[in-house]
Amino acid sequence: MNICCIGAGYVGGPTMAMIARKCPDITVKVVDINKERIDAWNSEALPVFEPGLLEVVKESRGRNLFFSTDVDGGIAWADLIFMCLPTPTKTYGEGAGSAADMTYIEISARRIAELATGDTIIVEKSTVPVRTAETIRRILESQKNGARFQVLSNPEFLAEGTAVADLENPDRVLIGGESATEEGRKALQTLVDVYARWVPRERIVTTNLWSSELSKLTANAFLAQRVSSINAMSALCEVTGADVDEVAAAIGRDKRIGPYFLHASVGFGGSCFQKDVLNLVYLCGAFNLPEVAEYWRQVVKMNDYQRHRFARKVLHALFSTVSGKKIAVLGFAFKRDTNDTRESSAISICRDLLEERAKLAIHDPKVERAQFFRDLGRKDPDPSIAICKDPFEAAEGADAILILTEWEQFRSKNLDYAKIFALMRKPAFLFDGRNLTDLAKMREIGFVAEGIGKGR
Ligand code: NAD
Ligand code: UGA
Repeated sequence: MNICCIGAGYVGGPTMAMIARKCPDITVKVVDINKERIDAWNSEALPVFEPGLLEVVKESRGRNLFFSTDVDGGIAWADLIFMCLPTPTKTYGEGAGSAADMTYIEISARRIAELATGDTIIVEKSTVPVRTAETIRRILESQKNGARFQVLSNPEFLAEGTAVADLENPDRVLIGGESATEEGRKALQTLVDVYARWVPRERIVTTNLWSSELSKLTANAFLAQRVSSINAMSALCEVTGADVDEVAAAIGRDKRIGPYFLHASVGFGGSCFQKDVLNLVYLCGAFNLPEVAEYWRQVVKMNDYQRHRFARKVLHALFSTVSGKKIAVLGFAFKRDTNDTRESSAISICRDLLEERAKLAIHDPKVERAQFFRDLGRKDPDPSIAICKDPFEAAEGADAILILTEWEQFRSKNLDYAKIFALMRKPAFLFDGRNLTDLAKMREIGFVAEGIGKGR
């Protein structure tokens, strides 16, 4: 079988590398219009930082895994095509700020309609609004060149930073398809057989197309909602003397609630939670369900509140002015173990502080220099932004230190906070936006220390 994946991004690259590893008899081509990205996939410096990914790629690259900019060639050659294209929030026209921008999907569907030959299975891997498969099918069927298509939905549930482990050992693989027709059943079975090479059959779930598409949006909405729920409680903890980590541990013991995804934080980031919840909000509005739309919108509102609340807390603690003060920022990626900064809460917090004329000294172990400036909307160099090679350089002469990403190296056991304290101007403030440090120890060192949801 020949598999082509359109889109060599955070999902396309790792997912195809895993399929190629597990199915050495299948040839997999990952194609993208972005030459720089394709060159990086063909080098030792992959465009995506994921623990363990380079080894997986190297195992198959040049054997049955190929990265190329020949999008049209890949489409014409394939029996099965994965669409791993962006579906960002629309920034213009109707639905701006909430609906998904389907331009990339439509452009690719039209290319497929024109170039594919014989029987081809099209797999939606991107996260899409429910009923997108119908749109894709209509576009494909509008070309009468004799090719026949089956459309499947196969949303991806991997999380960044743990992509390799998630792909190797998924909780479930979800495949939606048309089981009413013989061709539909055959297409479903073809994709089931690919995953069944390494995923236990009982973890491969098949549904109708719309359930599959909607399950992906629902999963992200529920996960985002959990973070917003614990973050909402963190605000209440701070004014009542409760400790949000103790509350999370206590409620997490209930099997019906479970212990995962209850870490209070500076807010969720990443390319998907906000976009997918907003996509759901838009869909509910479009289907005339305003109460349902408002219910989910609140998840994003709470996240924005948590980000601004954190920046305000810093400002008020520092005697209500940060103008001209040096603030050290530890962590800029939206979570640990990734170089991805998309929608990172650190961006919102840094922007709020820059607005207050603070001078930022930022350190992140994986984010590249140019990315900080792009995200903060500033040109390099900028007198208000210094990018630092380590936490000590960032802390030198700073009034406050902010922990914004949960990198392991920022935990109190892994970083010499006494040395950091010694380097700072006094009083030295520490705002731990990820509850990584032992606040009692930090106060012993001399910091004026605050976490998230830690009532005093
Ligand atoms: P990405 O932006 O990293 O990658 C998309 C790639 O598509 C880019 O490299 C871009 O150059 C390429 N592309 C755009 N138009 C093209 C065209 N016409 N032909 C060929 N290539 C084209 O995006 P991503 O993070 O991989 O996400 C892809 C989809 O998967 C989204 O719908 C997202 O919601 C979903 N998803 C993402 C994650 C994640 O962790 N990032 C997890 C699950 C699902
Ligand atoms: C998330 C989902 O976990 C994946 O299943 C899904 O496939 C993916 O979105 C997607 O559709 O893109 P990801 O965004 O990579 O994955 O990372 P998460 O681990 O979910 O973290 C998201 C954000 O929530 C991060 O900023 C993280 O720091 C934050 N978070 C997470 C918390 O603040 N508290 C928690 O308890 C958990």
